[in-house]
Amino acid sequence: MERMEVTETFAGIALPGHLHTQESLGFAAAFTFRPSDVLIATYPKSGTTWMQEILTLLFSLGDARPAKTIPNWERAPWLEQIYCREALRDTGSPRLLTTHLPAPVLAPALQRSKAKVIYVARNPKDVAVSFYHFHHLAKFLPDPSSFDAFLTQFLEGTVHYGSWFEHVKGWLGQRHLLDILYVTYEELHQDLRGTAQRLSSFLGCPLAPGTLAALEQHCSFSAMRDNAMANYSLIPAEIMDHSQGRFMRKGVVGDWRSHFSPEQNALFNRRYQEEMGDTELPAQWPM
Ligand code: A3P
Repeated sequence: MERMEVTETFAGIALPGHLHTQESLGFAAAFTFRPSDVLIATYPKSGTTWMQEILTLLFSLGDARPAKTIPNWERAPWLEQIYCREALRDTGSPRLLTTHLPAPVLAPALQRSKAKVIYVARNPKDVAVSFYHFHHLAKFLPDPSSFDAFLTQFLEGTVHYGSWFEHVKGWLGQRHLLDILYVTYEELHQDLRGTAQRLSSFLGCPLAPGTLAALEQHCSFSAMRDNAMANYSLIPAEIMDHSQGRFMRKGVVGDWRSHFSPEQNALFNRRYQEEMGDTELPAQWPM
C-alpha cells in the first residue's frame, strides 16, 4: 500500500501532513483553555490511548457506554489536528483534550489558564519499539526500513514528532508552572487502580462505588484491543494498513529486550545518560 508522504513542519518538528496543517497547529498554539479542561500530553506510543480510556471511565463514573459508542478521537480530540476546531464546537465542560505537541508550543496558553495537564511517559526503549512497529501500519509515517536505522533516527530526534528526550524534558520543565500530573505507562501496568485513584484526586473527580472495578475491566489491554472505539480499527486501510499489525500490539513492559542487541542497548544507555543525566525525574519513573 502507498505511503502518504506529506509532512508538515512546525516548531522544528515533522508531523504527518494528512492530520496537521499550519492552520490547525496555529489553532492549538493559540488555544483558549477553560479552567475545567483536562489535557493529556504524550510523546507517541507512551500510553495516550490508555489514558484517554481511563479518563473517559473516570468522567462517566464507570459507565462504559461512552467508551463503547464514541470513538476516542471524539471523546478526547487532538488539539493540533485538522478536525479539532469542529469537534469542539458544541462540547460542554469538562473537555478532555489530547496532544503530542512539545511543551514550548502549548505552555504559554496553558500558563495563562487553570487547565489541568496529565503527562504520560513510558520507558523510551519500549516507546522506540512500539513506534517502530506503528510505522509499519501507519501509512502517514515514513517507511521505517530496519529497526537499527529507525533507532538511530529515534536517538537523533529526527523521527516524526521529534525527540523523545526534548519532549519529556520540556514537559517536566513545566512542573512548577502548570497544574500538571506525571504518570508513567509502567505505573498504569503495575497499579491501575492506585493510579486511577491518584488521577481522581488530581482531577477532583469523585469515585462512585463501582467506578474502579468498571475502569479496571474496560481499560484492560484485552478489553481495549476488542473495543472498536479505542483500537483504531475504524480507520480506513489507506491510512492504517491493518494487515501490517494492530494498534493494540502487545501492551507489555520491557518488550525492548526482545528487539535490542547489546550494542544498541549500550548506545541507547549512553545517549540517555547524555540527554537525561541531570534531569530530575519523578521518583516513580523506572527509566
Ligand atoms: P505496544 O505497541 O507496545 O503494544 P499510544 O496510545 O500512546 O499510541 O500508545 C500505544 C501503546 O500503548 C501500544 O503499545 C499499545 O498496545 C499500548 N496500550 C494501549 N492500551 C493499553 C492497555 N490497556 N494496556 C496496556 N497497553 C496498552
